Amino acid sequence: MKIHGQPHRSIEAEHDTRSARIIDQTFLPHQVEWRELRTLEDAAEAIQVMRVRGAPLIGATAAFGLFFALREDASDVALQKAYDILHATRPTAINLRWALDRVKRVVSPYGVEERAEMAWNEALAICEADVATNHAIGEHGLELFRAIQAKKADSSAPLNVMTHCNAGWLATVDWGTAISPIYQAHDAGMKVHVWVSETRPRGQGASLTAFELKEHGVPYTLIVDNNAGHLLQRGLVDVVIVGTDRVTAHGDVANKIGTYLKALAAKAHDVPFYVATPVSTIDWTIADGIREIPIEQRSAREVTHMPGLSAAGVREEVLITPEGTQARNDGFDVTPAALVTALVTEYGVFAANAASLQQLQAKR
Ligand code: MRU
Repeated sequence: MKIHGQPHRSIEAEHDTRSARIIDQTFLPHQVEWRELRTLEDAAEAIQVMRVRGAPLIGATAAFGLFFALREDASDVALQKAYDILHATRPTAINLRWALDRVKRVVSPYGVEERAEMAWNEALAICEADVATNHAIGEHGLELFRAIQAKKADSSAPLNVMTHCNAGWLATVDWGTAISPIYQAHDAGMKVHVWVSETRPRGQGASLTAFELKEHGVPYTLIVDNNAGHLLQRGLVDVVIVGTDRVTAHGDVANKIGTYLKALAAKAHDVPFYVATPVSTIDWTIADGIREIPIEQRSAREVTHMPGLSAAGVREEVLITPEGTQARNDGFDVTPAALVTALVTEYGVFAANAASLQQLQAKR
């Protein structure tokens, strides 16, 4: 997608130096800072402190991380150690394990002198596949949007789409998952307007989704997270679409904290609630999302403090609570399958239940 009119990906391979360039998302939306990753430690740190984030992008970055490790030492012991370091960075997004397993599976049968080359090629392949996957998700999502638009009383009015967190191109290699259909609708000339929820505490909606949509020229309005129910109740939302960090084999969905409340409110007001997911985000080994998906616990400081840009243009963090306030910071929640209208995948639209997902599994 584009930044200031120039096409970019959220992670770009540097072939000469065999490194990876990322947009450091901790500086967005105020500064577009590129950062070079050259070592296993660089990649692990970038995932851990959320310079890169979003399930598919975490996976792609981890794949480069394994390459960096194997370039130094391609023994079985080093491979497993690097796998474990990267795997421990963030617990909820299954794409991390998916990408690490994929690279490990590909390189393991080879001798140590060939492994780094194999890992580099696999990291590139993961990135290319991610772009194609997300484009396909966008096409399927666009069909759903067209159908919803056609049923509106005033079909010339914009389609009002609500999303949460950032499941756009900054969360993937390109296009995004939930935002991909929005881009494709906009590019196809459909009138679309996006309700962007702030996504406290880290504000991925306010900082990242708003940044992306602004750069692409898609009309959007920022709302505080608590406004979602009100807008759904007033008929101001035609469809909700979000991304996900892990889907169970029975269709439960983990996504950024606050997603579950949106799903409940959408159900109450009969508004479709779609989850855009690449197949790489489905964890086929688990069924019950509430019991089995690990939920990341993050620092209380993210809740008690807020970062921003001062009037003088300096990035600052301010305390918003009484000194010493205890805070709990669950990074994700689980939306039960029953609240999900359907899953939008690269293979098409599937009901969020075990039987339908078995059909999807058979297609892979
Ligand atoms: O904590 P984050 O910013 O990594 O959380 C990201 C999300 O919750 C996204 O919605 C999800 O990873 C899907 S990204 C296509």
